[in-house]
Formats: sequence, C-alpha cells, structure tokens
Amino acid sequence: MRIVLLGAPGSGKGTQAKLLVDKYRIPHVSTGDLLRAVLAAGTPLGLQAKAAMDAGQLVSDEIVLGIIRERLRANDARKGFILDGFPRNIPQAQALDETLRTLNQPLDVAVLMDVDFDALMQRLTGRRNCENCGASYNVYTNPPRLDDQCDRCGAALHHRADDNEETIGNRLRVYDVQTRPLIEFYRSQGRLEVLDAVGEVNVIFKRLLLLLDPVVKGTRKPMPPPLQTGTKPAKGKTAPQPLSRAGKLPAAAKGKPVISRSSGKKPEKTPAKPARSPAHKAHAGKLAAAARRSMKKPAVKAAGVKGKAAKAGKRVAGKKPLKKSAGRK
Ligand code: AP5
Repeated sequence: MRIVLLGAPGSGKGTQAKLLVDKYRIPHVSTGDLLRAVLAAGTPLGLQAKAAMDAGQLVSDEIVLGIIRERLRANDARKGFILDGFPRNIPQAQALDETLRTLNQPLDVAVLMDVDFDALMQRLTGRRNCENCGASYNVYTNPPRLDDQCDRCGAALHHRADDNEETIGNRLRVYDVQTRPLIEFYRSQGRLEVLDAVGEVNVIFKRLLLLLDPVVKGTRKPMPPPLQTGTKPAKGKTAPQPLSRAGKLPAAAKGKPVISRSSGKKPEKTPAKPARSPAHKAHAGKLAAAARRSMKKPAVKAAGVKGKAAKAGKRVAGKKPLKKSAGRK
C-alpha cells in the first residue's frame, strides 16, 4: 500500500504513521525526520536545510526531492510506504507522481488529516519526543509520568526547536499557501480521502483503518468531485453530499465522525473528551490567541520559498487568517 498522509503541522501524521507501520509492516517515510538526520550529520546540505527549518519555511525542492527519490528506491519501499510531510507543494506532488510512474508503483491514496486550527497550536507547543526510543508525548494531552522523562525507556525527552509559537505560526502559514492546494490536486486525481483527526489517538487510528480497508482490499472507489452550486440531481435520485469548506461532511452530518464515504461502514462513536482543568483550558485559550496573533505576522522569507509564495502568504495571513481547520479548504 502506498499512502500519503496530508495535513497541517501537528495534525497527527507522524503519530498515525507509526501505528500504521506496526499494522502493515511498511516503512514510514517522513521528510521531516530525514531532514533532521541530514541536519544532525552537520553536512553543508544540512546547514542549508537548517536555515529554512528554523524559520518554519520549506526546504528547497531540490534538496527534498534528492532525499526522497533515494529513499523510495530503497528495497524496503517496494512493498509500500507511508509518506509523512511529503509532498508539501504542487511541484513536489508532480515529481512524486513521476518517480512512482518510473518505479511502476502508483500512489493508492492521499489521506487528509483534518484538525481544528486551535488544537494544532496546543499539540505542537506541548509535543515532547524521546530521541532514544521515538516515543511521542504531549504535556497537555498525553503527558509522561515523570516530567521530561520517557515512560518507556527513561531517556530525557526533547522539545523540537521549531515547536515554538513564532515558528509554528510560520509553518501553519506555509501550509496554508503551499500545501493546502494539494487537497484539490489529489481530489482531482480521485485519490483523496478525508479523515476527522480530532479525538483520541486510538479512535482516530480505528477510523483510519476503516478508511484504508477498501484500499487494502482493492475495492476503493474514487470520491466523486464536489457538486457545482446549482446542480440538481437527476429525477428520482438523491444528490451526493457536497463537501464543505473543510472537506468534511456538511452541517447535517456534523458531530458524526467522518470515515470514508466509500467504505459504507457505520461510523463509531467518538468518546467524550476527558475533563480538562480550568488551568488547562485557560492555557489552551492563551495558546490559540497567540497562534492567531502569529498567523497575522508577515511570512519570513527564507531558503526554498519563492517570492510569489511568500507574498501569497502575506495576503492569506492578512486578509483571511485561519480560524477553524488548518486542513480545511
Ligand atoms: P515535519 O517534521 O514534517 O513537521 P510538520 O509537517 O510540521 O509536522 P509535525 O511533525 O510537526 O506534525 P505531525 O502532523 O507529524 O504531528 P505529530 O503526530 O507529531 O517538518 C519539519 C520541517 O522540515 C518543515 O517545517 C520544513 O522546514 C521541513 N520539511 C519537511 N518536509 C518537507 C518537504 N517535503 N519539503 C520542504 N521542507 C520540508 O503530533 C503532534 C503532537 O500532537 C504530538 O505531541 C502528539 O503526541 C500529539 N497528538 C497527535 N495526535 C493527537 C491526538 N489525536 N490528540 C491529541 N494529541 C495528539
């Protein structure tokens, strides 16, 4: 199975990808992880990538494509892969299609992880990773038993350098301008599936497995394109549900977890969220406000970002700040 996990920073791509590795025994290919490895090696390429990553901007396509082409040609990727953080713009998506065409291994599905914007800031500022065993925690939603210490192996936990409010604001803005167009790109190819990625990690994973089930069985039918405004269904037929701005089901279906519109399976109930203390709620509110403030700042121009895209970033940030879902369209 060849999957792209698409979604804003913090939407849970890495978390779900790790669970998919255990389930399907196919490699997790994260360009963020690959770039951090290059960076740790201290090569000139790594230094170039560092400037962009520290600023929350995209590393140049040239560097990323070089790394990913090599990775996808490795033996373990022959039986499939889970792409996380790649592609991130249209040229990368086109290059991926071309690479997979030459390998005769077309992509099966692109899954959009749809998460409310406010939740993203909390997830990212609270993230802590164990560099020893790879376990991931969140000080707000999934804290370790002991502060800054991994429950599994006892090693010290790490706070990613780009998980600060200012850089997160830039990353979200870059997502909005450069990555969000991929939703339409994959929808027009009939490869897009939308996953409601809010809720408990394990509940989301179950939804993801239901969504992928037809892909595994080879029975997945491409999603029909959204209805044009004013289009009426043929006499005696029910109109297919149009997509909302978010790529979610429309208001009538709100509250029900979105699984796959091609799976035909009944969605499970999402358990009620655990009660949060007033202090947590207040802190989350502050983070959301800070996120909105940082989204209004102009984009920092850095390596790998073309002038046009940076300008577009200002326009989007200034006129239409993200309010609801960073995965939304
Ligand atoms: P990358 O490492 O790919 O970062 P990202 O896309 O910003 O994504 P994240 O890893 O931050 O989020 P995630 O969606 O994986 O969320 P996670 O599962 O960890 O890229 C970093 C940088 O590298 C980029 O800014 C860019 O500079 C460069 N780069 C990478 N790829 C590139 C490319 N293709 N082209 C150019 N440049 C590139 O979860 C986040 C937190 O939330 C965790 O704490 C987790 O525990 C928690 N969490 C997860 N799920 C849930 C849940 N359901 N409920 C509550 N908490 C949850």
